[in-house]
Amino acid sequence: MKKTLTGLLTIAALALSVQAYDQNDRRQDMQTMEASMAQIQKGILYNNKKLVLQGVENLKSASQNIQIAPKGDMDYTPAFAKSQTKNILVYADKVKANIEAGKKHAAAKNYTKVLDQCISCHNKIRKWNQ
Ligand code: HEC
Repeated sequence: MKKTLTGLLTIAALALSVQAYDQNDRRQDMQTMEASMAQIQKGILYNNKKLVLQGVENLKSASQNIQIAPKGDMDYTPAFAKSQTKNILVYADKVKANIEAGKKHAAAKNYTKVLDQCISCHNKIRKWNQ
């Protein structure tokens, strides 16, 4: 009996931790990514390498979470979200390498490629397709 109870409690705790990432968390991460993108653009325009590098780091840490997709109102699979995340990380690293090499045009091109990943996914949000 005691064992069953412990088992049930463990399952409940696991279920809670799986559901811990909700819509508010997602919005929070999205807003962090938006702010990071603005930071990167600002850094490129103000010729401020440090700002770009900070933006890249913030973007990378927030984008780790976006593979968790809300089911039902979304028109994408977790696999799609995962590949978008991977692309964001790849292009963010390119922005970093470009800015470290002092190549602002190249950095801006890879910045746009990051933005394209955001838009590709946003085009699949059912409630946004009116
Ligand atoms: C794999 C899918 C996916 C990717 C990739 C993605 N988003 Fe989102 N984004 C969403 C979803 C889903 C929502 C809607 C959240 C909601 O309202 O529940 C959203 C909403 C947003 C919002 C609005 C948040 C709010 O408070 O209403 C912003 C801003 C945003 N995303 C920025 C970004 C940026 C910047 C990137 C790229 C760096 C990005 N997103 C990439 C899925 C994605």
